[in-house]
Amino acid sequence: MTEFSSRLAASLVPYVPGEQPKDKKYIKLNTNENPYPPSPKVKAAIENEIDNLRLYPDPDAEKPREAAAEYFNKALGLTGSDALTKNNFFIGNGSDEILALICPAFFSGSKVAFPDITYTFYPVVASLFEVPCVSIPLKDDFTLDQDAVKNLPDDVAGMFLCNPNAPTGAAISLDEIKSVLEADSSKLIVVDEAYVDFGAETAVGLVNRYKNLLVVQTMSKSRQLAGIRCGFAVGCEDLIHVLDTVKNTFNSYTLDRLGNAAACAAFEDVEYFDKTRKKIAETRGTVSAELTKLGWDVIDSKSNFIFAEPPEESASAKEFFTELRENGILVRYFDKPRISSRLRITIGTPEDMETFISVVKEIMEEHAAR
Ligand SMILES: Cc1ncc(COP(=O)(O)O)c(C=O)c1O
Repeated sequence: MTEFSSRLAASLVPYVPGEQPKDKKYIKLNTNENPYPPSPKVKAAIENEIDNLRLYPDPDAEKPREAAAEYFNKALGLTGSDALTKNNFFIGNGSDEILALICPAFFSGSKVAFPDITYTFYPVVASLFEVPCVSIPLKDDFTLDQDAVKNLPDDVAGMFLCNPNAPTGAAISLDEIKSVLEADSSKLIVVDEAYVDFGAETAVGLVNRYKNLLVVQTMSKSRQLAGIRCGFAVGCEDLIHVLDTVKNTFNSYTLDRLGNAAACAAFEDVEYFDKTRKKIAETRGTVSAELTKLGWDVIDSKSNFIFAEPPEESASAKEFFTELRENGILVRYFDKPRISSRLRITIGTPEDMETFISVVKEIMEEHAAR
């Protein structure tokens, strides 16, 4: 900080993303990236777009919005008034950017709520827009306190609800989401579905029924495009219009030309999307079963990571984090109240996860022998 820092800048505590190591090659199970490459159709689409890079991209990202509407109408069987058009979609430079734009668009001058254990970017981005936060503690078993969520204080404009939640991986059902939406239609419920494609139910099909629902998804996880930075919000046209207005006062071109091309191709290659997300869900099942056999407590996950606690008599989560790293495997450890006894482990390829399990066994044997 310098004497030139604004009062706001001086007060900010930035988000700390998972490590992207530069010293050597690791098995990366720390940032919930997809272990498989993007669809070959994405590669072809990017190559085709390169010569157009001298031109600005479409500021409205019409093509990916149309591709998204087509994908969801087909995948969810949406017809009649439920059917989506491009006007139900907003595209951002990663879903983090959308979560940021949501603050000035809907929460400025009010407060935003979210669970005490959830994606740690929410409080960070709220602080940038000076939106005070209200924490809603999860229950002891890390499930959502439905009563608290349905009775948000009057001065709260809405909430971020991550489903499946991060870092727990636990999901709530569509019926539970509906009951939250119906409990108080004056609160905007932002459902962050970054990981929904790995096993939870999406609320996208409900956006034309509930005017207080905004769903946020990303191409970074289930569609292998973390490096492209493309996220999207789905909501009724009025909500999307507000996001557009805020975006166009800040940066008209959120998604570059390569991103536009890649996003369309990724939405179109449904076969590849389904094949890879199924493989990850299968590997998650195998890894969860193996860790459970070794005495770990693994929360039932519907995402591409698991949140697991080593047995008490073994090494601590922090020790596992350090020793796995020494063995070339990165996982995520949060030194925070309520969750410091657990590790968040991204699901990699079956081969990566076999290596992970064998190193875990070695660490456990070594600690048992001490
Ligand atoms: C819950 C959640 N939401 C949103 C994001 C942001 O994803 P992106 O900005 O890559 O779209 C992440 C990234 O890890 C996440 O975990």
